[in-house]
Amino acid sequence: MGKTVKMATMFVLVLLFVTGYALAAGSGTVTYEKDVKKILSENCLSCHGSDAPTMTEFKKDQDKYKKAMKGPRVDTYANLMVIVNGSDTGALMRRLDDGKNTKNGKPGNMYTYLGGTDAEKAKNLEVIKKWVGGWTLKRKKDMSADELKAIKALEK
Ligand code: HEC
Repeated sequence: MGKTVKMATMFVLVLLFVTGYALAAGSGTVTYEKDVKKILSENCLSCHGSDAPTMTEFKKDQDKYKKAMKGPRVDTYANLMVIVNGSDTGALMRRLDDGKNTKNGKPGNMYTYLGGTDAEKAKNLEVIKKWVGGWTLKRKKDMSADELKAIKALEK
């Protein structure tokens, strides 16, 4: 390789590195509005949308809703938070985990809906994990104050 080519290659590499770094820094915090809402509306709302029951309704007659392929609504931030750190804390994490944190090593039963391909599922899970912050599959009663505090799940 000639000296000029080497220099040019170096220059391009440095430029790529700097741009990549700037982009990563610029994207900032993962939020519901910016990142999570889109993933859910594309992959979950057909069964968890505004025509689905609230968690309270769902709990009253789970069999009926399961037969109708409807899960509790996650169509708004408030509804979604019920399964993140509300009355059903950790349900989102338990159902979406890819198997790395589950007891039997199998993915949660909603993981499969995260995307059309394995790559897409992994990518969307990564975003949701970053959004949640402290990713734990525990139930609220088994979580420490610190573990609860580690759940960030910002709206904006
Ligand atoms: C094809 C329909 C369908 C799709 C798509 C779907 N779900 Fe579900 N989901 C259900 C049904 C039905 C239930 C209730 C039965 C069960 O618990 O497995 C459920 C249950 C859940 C629960 C447990 C709620 C609780 O507290 O009991 C969570 C969490 C959940 N889904 C999250 C998601 C997420 C996140 C997505 C998108 C990545 C998604 N689901 C996509 C049908 C669906």
